[in-house]
Amino acid sequence: MASEMFSMQPIGYVRSPYQNRSAVPRGLGAKHDAEGVLEILPEFERGLMDIEGFSHLFVIWVFDRSEGCDLMATPPSDNRQHGVFATRSPMRPNPIGLTVVELLRRDGPRLHVRGIDMLEGTPILDLKPYLSSIAPAALRRGWLAEAEARSGK
Ligand SMILES: C[S@@+](CC[C@H](N)C(=O)[O-])C[C@H]1O[C@@H](n2cnc3c(N)ncnc32)[C@H](O)[C@@H]1O
Repeated sequence: MASEMFSMQPIGYVRSPYQNRSAVPRGLGAKHDAEGVLEILPEFERGLMDIEGFSHLFVIWVFDRSEGCDLMATPPSDNRQHGVFATRSPMRPNPIGLTVVELLRRDGPRLHVRGIDMLEGTPILDLKPYLSSIAPAALRRGWLAEAEARSGK
């Protein structure tokens, strides 16, 4: 077991319409089109320079309201177990979340975005522009494609 520890600080917080976990759409076909705001702390605002030019962002954040870790997960989109690293389960060894959002507009330190699946007050660790050079035809979607085929969705 590695003994290295890393300490991080939030660069801001998510303003979300979701107050509790059950409010966030889940399962096959769930739509993530909720709008919210990424509120960046004043001391990090300078780091947002030129972010407006990007249509989508990666948001790296903390599952601050998830407890424990389970190396096996049964996602809401399937009735079969999968290893946690083959899922997006909140119960992971390092409780880090990753969400791609659409940047609608910037208002100083406030980024108005669409596509959030985080709870109100979720701490944000980092933002990066969304870029992908992987052709859709080259992507394999593993158990998720099988679960979709089984459910007919
Ligand atoms: C399946 S996870 C996926 C999150 C992210 N898109 C990812 O892939 O890492 C989404 C669930 O995380 C839960 N969640 C959102 N914000 C959370 C928080 N701050 N702490 C714990 N759980 C949270 C919600 O219940 C939501 O349904």
